[in-house]
Amino acid sequence: MEANEKRYDDMIYRRCGRSGILLPAISLGLWHNFGSVDVFNHFIKIAHTAFDKGITHFDLANNYGPVYGSAEENFGHILKKGLGKYRDELIISSKAGYDMWPGPYGNWGSRKYLTASLDQSLKRMGLDYVDIFYSHRPDPHTPVEETMGALVDIVRQGKALYVGISNYNDEETKAALAVLKEHKVHCLIHQPKYSLFERWVEPKLLPLLKDEGVGLIAFSPLAQGLLTNKYLNGIPENSRAAKPTGFLQRSQVTEEVITKVRKLNDIAISRGQTLAEMALAWLLKDDRVTSVLIGASSVEQLLDNLNALQHLRFEASELSAIEAVLA
Ligand SMILES: NC(=O)c1ccc[n+]([C@@H]2O[C@H](COP(=O)([O-])OP(=O)(O)OC[C@H]3O[C@@H](n4cnc5c(N)ncnc54)[C@H](OP(=O)(O)O)[C@@H]3O)[C@@H](O)[C@H]2O)c1
Repeated sequence: MEANEKRYDDMIYRRCGRSGILLPAISLGLWHNFGSVDVFNHFIKIAHTAFDKGITHFDLANNYGPVYGSAEENFGHILKKGLGKYRDELIISSKAGYDMWPGPYGNWGSRKYLTASLDQSLKRMGLDYVDIFYSHRPDPHTPVEETMGALVDIVRQGKALYVGISNYNDEETKAALAVLKEHKVHCLIHQPKYSLFERWVEPKLLPLLKDEGVGLIAFSPLAQGLLTNKYLNGIPENSRAAKPTGFLQRSQVTEEVITKVRKLNDIAISRGQTLAEMALAWLLKDDRVTSVLIGASSVEQLLDNLNALQHLRFEASELSAIEAVLA
């Protein structure tokens, strides 16, 4: 693989909180479309196109697939087949926190689980270290000191350069940041779900992260495909909602949701964008959002989403029209 020489020309990079790291405004997640149920020649093209377009950040987790672990294994093959020679141009993340292996030590937030899981992830990807390691979700039964203490030790051991948290609510975030501060390890980034349809982060989390110098990367910014033109006329075959392995259920594609999507689609068209582009631009208009973490099942989708960067500004009238649809 020879990467595009002009790969840094068009991407926008944003500083991730108070840190030395810049992330691309659009990052690529491997939750779906890179598993053992998917086709290697197809998804390697998505990964290469992403890098050629300046996407330096690839987000994984131990259980991405299906089957669990297969997205990391496949990403390891992609690295071996050429992308790996650009390792120092890449920010690769992984996580542990959800169900991974049987028994009491393959889930949640114990030191035992996080440590073993990262060792497995590194092996699957053929890496010595990840750039970011996340606690994938808070664990109500494990002291936050233990979970954060494990992240701290992982950094000290050089297995991760930075740490992050995902799916932590406002109070859980405060508690986690306090423990990390005691250990003098900065939390680089928070990864919450955030989109036009999912806005819990706005009242408290966004200001908190800004104050604390923690970046934010928004996952499922297209609501798993609902915030695109894909479901306007029913559920296409091969879409995430139609696939047995997809996390988007047919039952989530309701007439009520699609009525909103149609209205949002009209606003996007009036801005000269696709709905996917507008949904991403709408998140990126706020500079507290470091990056939007998209999924893509084709190169065409990826390129469509990258077009969002051409038009990030919103008129006040467009913003109020969007609010009226969502109200
Ligand atoms: N921390 C967490 O707990 C957590 C949870 C979920 C996700 N994540 C991260 O966030 C990443 C993204 O999540 P996501 O895949 O749900 O993101 P998303 O961007 O909201 O949805 C991606 C899906 O939308 C469809 N799509 C994307 N671009 C499109 C376009 N331009 N036109 C039409 N359809 C388009 C595709 O679905 P089809 O397959 O139907 O074509 C694609 O697979 C994951 O890979 C993962 O890294 C993290």
